[in-house]
Amino acid sequence: MNGKETKQYLIGVDLGTSATKTILVDENGIIVASASCAYPMYQPENGWAEQNPLDWKNAALVTIKEVMKKSGVAAGEVAGIGLSGQMHGLVMLDENNELVDDAIIWCDQRSSSQTKEMLDLLPMEKWMEISANPPIAGWTAAKILWVRENKPEVYQKCRHILLPKDYIRFILTGEFATDVSDASGMQILDVKNRCWSDELLGVLEFDKSLFAKVYESQEITGYLLPEIAAECGLSIRTAVVAGGSDNACAGIGTGIVRQGEAFTSIGTSAVVYSHLDQYTQIPGGGLHLCCCAVPGCWHTMGGPQSAGLSLEWFKDKFCQDLIHKADEEGSSFYNAITKLVEQIPIGSEKLLYLPFLMGERTPHIDPLYRGAFLGLNVVHTQAHLLRAIMEGIAYCLADCNDLLKGQGVHVVSMRACGGGSRSIVWRKIMAALYQCNICTLQQEEGPAYGAAILAGAGTGVFSSIQDTCDRFIKEKDTLAYNPEEAETYQKYHAVYDRMCESLRADFTALANL
Ligand code: XUL
Repeated sequence: MNGKETKQYLIGVDLGTSATKTILVDENGIIVASASCAYPMYQPENGWAEQNPLDWKNAALVTIKEVMKKSGVAAGEVAGIGLSGQMHGLVMLDENNELVDDAIIWCDQRSSSQTKEMLDLLPMEKWMEISANPPIAGWTAAKILWVRENKPEVYQKCRHILLPKDYIRFILTGEFATDVSDASGMQILDVKNRCWSDELLGVLEFDKSLFAKVYESQEITGYLLPEIAAECGLSIRTAVVAGGSDNACAGIGTGIVRQGEAFTSIGTSAVVYSHLDQYTQIPGGGLHLCCCAVPGCWHTMGGPQSAGLSLEWFKDKFCQDLIHKADEEGSSFYNAITKLVEQIPIGSEKLLYLPFLMGERTPHIDPLYRGAFLGLNVVHTQAHLLRAIMEGIAYCLADCNDLLKGQGVHVVSMRACGGGSRSIVWRKIMAALYQCNICTLQQEEGPAYGAAILAGAGTGVFSSIQDTCDRFIKEKDTLAYNPEEAETYQKYHAVYDRMCESLRADFTALANL
C-alpha cells in the first residue's frame, strides 16, 4: 500500500435498479461514509421496463457529493472511483452525446422475437461458442435489434451505445469505455477472448464504432472532468477504473475470487454466482457465463429476475395495511414481514409461488413465463403469500445451484449479500434448499464495496484483488442448514419444478391471447 503521510480513499458507486448506492472506503478497507438515492422504474407495457438515465446521473452525482461532504475527506485524497452497475441495459446517445431515449433495462422482455431472428442469423452453437450464452431477450443485442426494427428514427440518431454504469463514466470522465464483465451481458463480446466479436457484430450489422472500448475491470479508463471534480469536491487526478457488472463487483465485494467459491445475492433480481478460474462452457445455457472482474477469470450465475421485485410488487399492491402499521410503529416493513412469515410453516401450507413476473432466463429461458400462486386455499392469508414468495425465489435459486453442482461446484459455505440476505428466514430457507451453510459478511455493501476494491487495485492503493479480498472481507455469522427442513423442502421443490415445466405451454398460450 502507498501513501504513508496522506491517507488515500476510494469511492465505489453501484448503480442498482431501485437506487444508486455510493460508499467511500479508506486504505484499510473501512467504509467511512455511504449514501443512496432512489429512482423509479417505468413499465409502460406488460413485460417492458425502462429507466431515465438522467435519474442515474443525478443519483451518482448526489451520492458522490454526499459521501465527500459527510466524510470531510479532501479532494486530493480520493485516488479512484470504481463503477458497478445493473447489467444488459441499453443507453443510446446521439452525435451531440445527448440521450436519444429512455434506457431499456435488464428485466425488459419485449425483444423475444429478436432472439429468434438472432438464431436465424447464426446457429445456437455459434452463439454459445462466441457469446458463451444462448440469445436472451433481456440482453443488450436483442434490445438494439428491437429498437432498430420498432423505432428506426431513434436508431438512426444513435451514435453511441452504452451500458448503464458506462453512461455514468461518460458523465464523470467524458470517456466511452466499458469492462469485460458488463460487456459479457451485451451478447456481442467474444467472452473467451475478452474483446468485441467482429463476427457477431458483422451478422447483426452493428457498426463497431457504436460501442465503447473494452477494458479489464481494474484498468483506469480516465480521470474526472474539471467541472465534475469541482462539483463533487474531488480532483482532476481522481481516476475512474473500468469497474464491473453488479454481479461481478459483488463477487469481489463478497470475496468470491477463487474456483469453487460462491455467493447468493438477493436484490431486485437474485443470483447464485460462482467464480471460475478457467473458461468453462455451461451446457444448455441454463446458467449465464461471463468474464469476471478478476483478470483472466470468468463466472457463472443464474437466478430469478423478479426476486426483490416480487416482494416489492406484493408490498405495493397488497400490503398497504402492513406499510401503515410499520410507519406508525416507526419500524421497517421488512422487519414486520419477517415476524409474520416466521409463523408460517415450511411450504406455506401447500402454497407455491412461481417468481416469473418479468419472464425468466435462468434456468428456464422463456420471456413469456409469468408469475403464479399455485395451491391457493381458504386457509391462506397475506402471511402465507409472503412466505410463498420467499420460498418460490429460493426454489428458483436452488435450481440454479443444482446446475452448478452438475458443473462439479459443490459449495459447502455460501456467502450471502443484497438486501434480502438480511432476512434470517430467507437465509434459513436457502440453507435448507442448498443444503449448505449460509454466511453473512461484515461488509454488507457487496457491489459498491467490490467497485471500491477495483478502484484501489487499479490505482495501486491496494495490491492484487485476491489479496485485498483476503485482508478485508470477513464473515459475520454462519447459519447451518437443518436436515429435517431440507428433507421437507426437497418435496416442495420437486413439485415446484414440475409445475414450472408443465405450465410452459400455457404461459405461451396466455401471452398469445
Ligand atoms: C444479471 C442481471 C441482474 C442485473 C440487475 O444477468 O440481469 O442481476 O444485473 O441487478
